[in-house]
Amino acid sequence: MKRIMVTGGAGFIGSHFVKYQLDIYPNIQVVNFDKLTYAGNPDNLKGVDESRHTFVKGDIADAVAVRQAMDGCDAVVNFAAETHVDRSIAGASEFIDTDVRGVYNIVEAAKTLGTSRVLLVSTDEVYGSIAEGSFKESDPINPRNPYSASKAGGELIGRSYFHTFGLPVIITRGSNTYGSHQYPEKVLPLFATNAIDHLPLPLYKGGEHNVRDWLYVWDHCSGIDRALRHGEPGEVYNVAGGNERENIVLTRRILELCGRGEDLIKLVPDRPGHDKRYSIDASKLRALDWRPTMDWDEGVALTVRWYQEHESWWRPIKTGEYLEYYKRQYGASAK
Ligand code: NAD
Ligand code: TYD
Repeated sequence: MKRIMVTGGAGFIGSHFVKYQLDIYPNIQVVNFDKLTYAGNPDNLKGVDESRHTFVKGDIADAVAVRQAMDGCDAVVNFAAETHVDRSIAGASEFIDTDVRGVYNIVEAAKTLGTSRVLLVSTDEVYGSIAEGSFKESDPINPRNPYSASKAGGELIGRSYFHTFGLPVIITRGSNTYGSHQYPEKVLPLFATNAIDHLPLPLYKGGEHNVRDWLYVWDHCSGIDRALRHGEPGEVYNVAGGNERENIVLTRRILELCGRGEDLIKLVPDRPGHDKRYSIDASKLRALDWRPTMDWDEGVALTVRWYQEHESWWRPIKTGEYLEYYKRQYGASAK
């Protein structure tokens, strides 16, 4: 692979993936196509080797712009998405535009241009909740909120292009990802930055014992890269962290790392339709020689320390649109 298009490469995981490609493959060129929504941030790309990185501001819902940027690339990896469950509950229109229509534009452009690999980054949330055991790729999907439903819609369009047109589409389904540069609406950076500021941590009441499987961002990137280069077209690969924790356990760990007491925990009304537990089995990707390497305790400590040491990254974000969102989402209950 010589030239790879990464969509959503100014976001959390996408920016790490851009750095991963540039670090690991000395001759690769990356075309980074990103709309720079509220979640996209050019600061996430500070220090990348500009001689091998081309940034294109664009919307995957714009078919012409997607085709132009993809021309000459031998692979495309799609991270671009609306990604926050709570925002999808408040209004799903942009989720449909980007996560469904946008993916259609990507596979359609790839079909026209004959792109030799299309990797669609998806989520374990498409399976829905599971009480016991772990989902395998062969299990049916059952998305239960507008975000996961829109991601499932994009996946299905992608898979249909494999079956109908032979387009070499590969899908990865990653578990909850954590690390530096994550927009502070997701639970870990939200709780860490609030704890630093002695602000309440809005834990969903009734969801304190809900379980997420935590995957360190660099491990997620290596999993996607493994599937991209060694996966079979038409196949789906789960990327699991193997670190299932109840939300209350994560919350206490963040408080401990920030030197704060549990009095900061503020139970707020639960998310509607809050999925209880996500769990996926990654043995299919492990059979391709992939392993997550980050220990959970160490990874969370490293991540919280990063937010402690990079206030200049997140303080400008926690203003303007963010504060309006925060007020809408948590209202008086977060005070
Ligand atoms: P993010 O919200 O941090 O970043 C999304 C990026 O996509 C931003 O840079 C944004 O500007 C860009 N974008 C949004 N709409 C766009 C559009 N229409 N055209 C072009 N660019 C657009 O997201 P993230 O957490 O880094 O997630 C990246 C991908 O990984 C998503 O597809 C998500 O579904 C998937 N995923 C995320 C997690 C997680 O825990 N964060 C877990 C599994 C899978
Ligand atoms: P989140 O980071 O939004 O990821 P996802 O919904 O994709 O799993 O949420 C992770 C868990 O944390 C989820 O069970 C909901 C919970 N949560 C809270 O308790 N309070 C919050 O303010 C947020 C954002 C999440």
